[in-house]
Amino acid sequence: MVKASVLGASGGIGQPLSLLLAISPLVDELSLYDVVNTPGVGADLSHINGTAKVTAYLPEGGAGLEKALTGCDIVVIPAGIPRKPGMTRDDLFKINAGIVRDLATGVAKYCPKAFVLIISNPVNSTVPIAAEVLKSHNVFDPTRLFGVTSLDVVRASTFVADVVGGDRTKYKIPVVGGHSGETIVPLLSQISPKVDIPADKLEALVNRIQFGGDEVVKAKDGAGSATLSMAYAGFKFAEALLRAGNNETGIVEPTYIYLPGVPGGKEIQDTVGGLEFFAVPVELGPNGAVRATNPLVKVSDYEEKLLEKCYEGLKGNIAKGVEFIATQSSKL
Ligand SMILES: NC(=O)c1ccc[n+]([C@@H]2O[C@H](COP(=O)([O-])OP(=O)(O)OC[C@H]3O[C@@H](n4cnc5c(N)ncnc54)[C@H](O)[C@@H]3O)[C@@H](O)[C@H]2O)c1
Repeated sequence: MVKASVLGASGGIGQPLSLLLAISPLVDELSLYDVVNTPGVGADLSHINGTAKVTAYLPEGGAGLEKALTGCDIVVIPAGIPRKPGMTRDDLFKINAGIVRDLATGVAKYCPKAFVLIISNPVNSTVPIAAEVLKSHNVFDPTRLFGVTSLDVVRASTFVADVVGGDRTKYKIPVVGGHSGETIVPLLSQISPKVDIPADKLEALVNRIQFGGDEVVKAKDGAGSATLSMAYAGFKFAEALLRAGNNETGIVEPTYIYLPGVPGGKEIQDTVGGLEFFAVPVELGPNGAVRATNPLVKVSDYEEKLLEKCYEGLKGNIAKGVEFIATQSSKL
């Protein structure tokens, strides 16, 4: 029996993500939690004749979060405000940091062994926040905490196909680093199946993968950021974990993890200037992250330059999340 929960289930990402989880044969119970509108979203989804039983909760002074999370195996967190034109993901920190802190506290109390998938931005900082909260409750298991960077991977294969043609579902590109602007580093030298990106197209392609989110923010013109493509990407990552939980082998997905706590991560940490959090392709198994793989051993000179910028940006983003919790420990 697998119980999944979506925290922020009434939102732009939360609703389509909940729909995909509700119709997945890998989910037996789906609990929806949000500060608004979950009764409506829950009633709607509960009419689908899928395998998942759908339950829905509002805060109810804390009891709602407890009910939503108790017994959960996998918790996906897209709660928080999205960007408007002109905003960076870091601009969301002020509000979303506290939201992630409180929801991670709920995970620590009510389902400390669950897989936790953080979508709320800025992911570069909210994952360290969740890690610090779990640590403060002595329940941090780095093999079970994931920053969802799958949308960068999805965008990379789509945008590569736009340039070189071919089947856009087939391109696999390791996207490493973090999840914002220059911290997103697509390793296009390692595309599989192998294709040559014309030299005069490379820079624009990398830029599009790094800043693809801005295209959506601009097109939505104040109505938010990527929701449907994010729900798809978030579901694909959740599904990969659930499939690995069913003993399917050979599943490798890029995700933003705490390097020192995942086998293979220490060696990567040494090559990324000591950063504790970093997205790399990770092999998944029934207990979460089995092994972090290191694609940084064979990068091009151009990618090396991109990585230098990534390290610089990530360092500050990670420190900001860790410091936020250090100054807030009375609220945990
Ligand atoms: N990781 C990624 O690749 C990625 C991609 C796109 C968006 N995002 C991020 O995902 C987040 C959600 O985006 P969205 O477009 O769905 O926003 P949205 O505003 O449509 O939905 C957010 C939902 O969170 C709920 N919420 C707020 N505080 C909460 C709390 N304390 N507990 C539970 N729910 C709470 C809101 O009521 C709302 O329903 C944003 O931070 C956005 O930047 C991440």
